[in-house]
Amino acid sequence: TGTADLVIVANRLPVDRTTNPDGSRGWRRSPGGLVSALEPVMRAGDGAWIGWPGVAGHDDLEPFVEDGMQLVPVGLSAEEVEEFYEGFSNSTLWPLYHDVVAKPEFHREWFDSYVKVNERFAAAAAEVASENATVWVQDYQLQLVPRMLRDLRPDLRIGFYLHIPFPPSELFQQLPWRRQVLEGLLGADLVGFQLPAAAQNFIRLVRQRVGHKTHRDTVYLPDGRTVKAAAFPISIDTAGFEELARSESVERRARAIREALGNPAKIFLGIDRLDYTKGIYARLRAFSELIADGHFGVEDAVFVQVATPSRERVEQYRILRDEIDRLVGRINGDLGRIGRPAISYLHSSYPREEMAALYRAADVMVVTPYRDGMNLVAKEYVACRFDNDGALVLSEFAGAAEELRQAWLVNPYDINGMKQALLAAYEADPKDLNRRMKAMRRTVREKDVAFWADHFLEELSATRPEHGKPL
Ligand code: G6P
Repeated sequence: TGTADLVIVANRLPVDRTTNPDGSRGWRRSPGGLVSALEPVMRAGDGAWIGWPGVAGHDDLEPFVEDGMQLVPVGLSAEEVEEFYEGFSNSTLWPLYHDVVAKPEFHREWFDSYVKVNERFAAAAAEVASENATVWVQDYQLQLVPRMLRDLRPDLRIGFYLHIPFPPSELFQQLPWRRQVLEGLLGADLVGFQLPAAAQNFIRLVRQRVGHKTHRDTVYLPDGRTVKAAAFPISIDTAGFEELARSESVERRARAIREALGNPAKIFLGIDRLDYTKGIYARLRAFSELIADGHFGVEDAVFVQVATPSRERVEQYRILRDEIDRLVGRINGDLGRIGRPAISYLHSSYPREEMAALYRAADVMVVTPYRDGMNLVAKEYVACRFDNDGALVLSEFAGAAEELRQAWLVNPYDINGMKQALLAAYEADPKDLNRRMKAMRRTVREKDVAFWADHFLEELSATRPEHGKPL
């Protein structure tokens, strides 16, 4: 046994291994909502974080301290990156769990690799965790870890949190390894989801597919252990974002961005990982049709779309990139004027400061995923609008829509409906904006990421009071 009382196990470390042009090595913040959410949690306590450093290979795998966090790297071979990460995690589970927006692929070798890698993460957690420690396993890449870890270390208190949607059972049933996945998750004492419907769905599947007794949010296992499933909607470091947004340098940068865009009356903004679940194509079409229909011109409005490179070796992501490249080129070719593109497209990732400046500069934030566990970008925008202005257009199919009811809610499959919402947000009067933003800001202030983590960890320590140290 090790010394850490709280262990986070996630596919990624909060930083990626990078190689500089001169050959020296460094670290860079890794992408995605999971890392943004957990970083403040880890920083607040003194636990350990187990994860993959984001590059293939087995060099540099010594534990180290970065930014006050105890980090424990787990290595993946090039073949495992292909089969476990790009394959089973991101070409099987990711599309299956996101309403089959893309077709999931099922390959037996990929699942074998998933098992092997999950075993490696479980072994690393078993080594680092102190006696009776709490281990918190994260997300779809590691669903077998709770069961494996319990077999290695029955003394531990184990939580699992799924950051992405849990699919309706009709879709989940397609998975040839559905039973292994359910049993893997049942190794935890508490299984957390973004939304209550997902937790109920999990409980129902466990009853129907594994045959365990269940009552409300609890599963009763034959050995007397119980597993609880509940919703814990994730959030952001609201105060941190607001503080950043209020800083002089971000304010200055926001002005510079507006100026560089030619000070248009309205700036629309999208910020997403370049992922086919995010509905980028449909939203850009809706926006361009509003221009083509004559509702406003390229002098009046511009759409800034930031697409963060993601999973670039996975086929579906390459196809998407080509499609967006072509669409943006076509729209700008058809509608742009000299120095005035309709869409300002950036295929790049930016630090938090630049994001905050973009949020400050934008009049209409457009978040239109076909399916999304939560979507933290929507919450970040709200956190940054301390003047209670700015409009949020938000997909009904993002988890965030259950909390941010005052957004302009849209169905991303309905282009005409999206056009109406974009136009309504464009034309909204300041009083309406103020009323909506105030209410949404209250929500993200009350329910921030600390609230999320405390709530989960409290529920977790209430399970199996006879085992595990209180936190
Ligand atoms: C989502 C997932 C995370 C993942 C992130 C980035 O937020 O829930 O588990 O880490 O996307 O994706 P990547 O494949 O680059 O880790």
